[in-house]
Amino acid sequence: MYRFRRLRRDERIRSMMQETRLHPKDFIYPIFVIEGENIKNPVESMPGIFQYSIDRLEEILEQVKEAGIGGIMLFGIPVHKDPQGSQAYAEDGITQRAVRFIKEKYPEIYIVVDICLCEYTSHGHCGMVQGEEILNDETLPYLVKMAVSLAEAGADMAAPSDMMDGRVAAIREGLDQAGFTQMPIMAYSAKFASAYYGPFRDAAHSAPGFGDRKSYQMDFANGQEALREIAADIDEGADIVMVKPALAYLDVLKEAALTFDVPLAVYNVSGEYAMVKAAAANGWIDEKRIVMENLTAMKRAGAKIIITYHALEVVDWIS
Ligand code: PBG
Ligand code: ZN
Repeated sequence: MYRFRRLRRDERIRSMMQETRLHPKDFIYPIFVIEGENIKNPVESMPGIFQYSIDRLEEILEQVKEAGIGGIMLFGIPVHKDPQGSQAYAEDGITQRAVRFIKEKYPEIYIVVDICLCEYTSHGHCGMVQGEEILNDETLPYLVKMAVSLAEAGADMAAPSDMMDGRVAAIREGLDQAGFTQMPIMAYSAKFASAYYGPFRDAAHSAPGFGDRKSYQMDFANGQEALREIAADIDEGADIVMVKPALAYLDVLKEAALTFDVPLAVYNVSGEYAMVKAAAANGWIDEKRIVMENLTAMKRAGAKIIITYHALEVVDWIS
């Protein structure tokens, strides 16, 4: 008989045997930056998460710096929205200004910028719209403009989340031509059309005004197609590929880890965070243990990077 229990006898040997350990550098923490002054708005469905105006950002950036996590991911919320999402690539856009501010005050913080138009378009879709149709090729130049303008502001990494075909190649070419050959692209490659994004859309004011995102984000029934999406993005030049959401898609993540040799990211999304927080607030689960279990599972399944709203709290527990 093999006695597995010998290596589980007490905490000393258990901790020595642990195959997967979380580290602060595993985490990227999403931050919502809103136009205006003196704003720190709680996001109701995401306890502990706020929208900050630039003049109030330092409070959260101090915590990020203190935590020593891998980086932050910025989501800008503009006042002005139009069909072309012009504030996404305006030199003085909210995200551009936030990047410049952070770069200047906190040069040690690694800044990832989400590249997508939905927070900036009046119709709330991730691309250009004609009638009810979300256009693909017509959207690409706008994504390129957004990526280049954020690179010029000082962003460290571009993370396209729009799910238009060909956007990684287009953004790579645009960045290279503008001289940003060293800026990595982390592609939201297997991004599913998911109900788990609900709380984010409140936080980022990015819900689609009509229809849904199913003509560009993936059907959650499809695992094989997810691998093809990832392969295509690697082919187009993605440095890091992502699976999103996390918990209901760990099979996809694991399969990607076994199939590809590029670094993998996973996005532990707003709805996943909200469910944990809601159950914890009711006293129905042990929040700390649940979060540790969830995030460890993501890393065990193959994630190199975990984008999570829990990042700052977790760092306190693991150090
Ligand atoms: C923008 C974007 C979304 C998320 C990240 N980038 C929302 C969406 O696609 O509707 C979701 C993040 C989350 O739920 O935490 N395209
Ligand atoms: Zn979008």
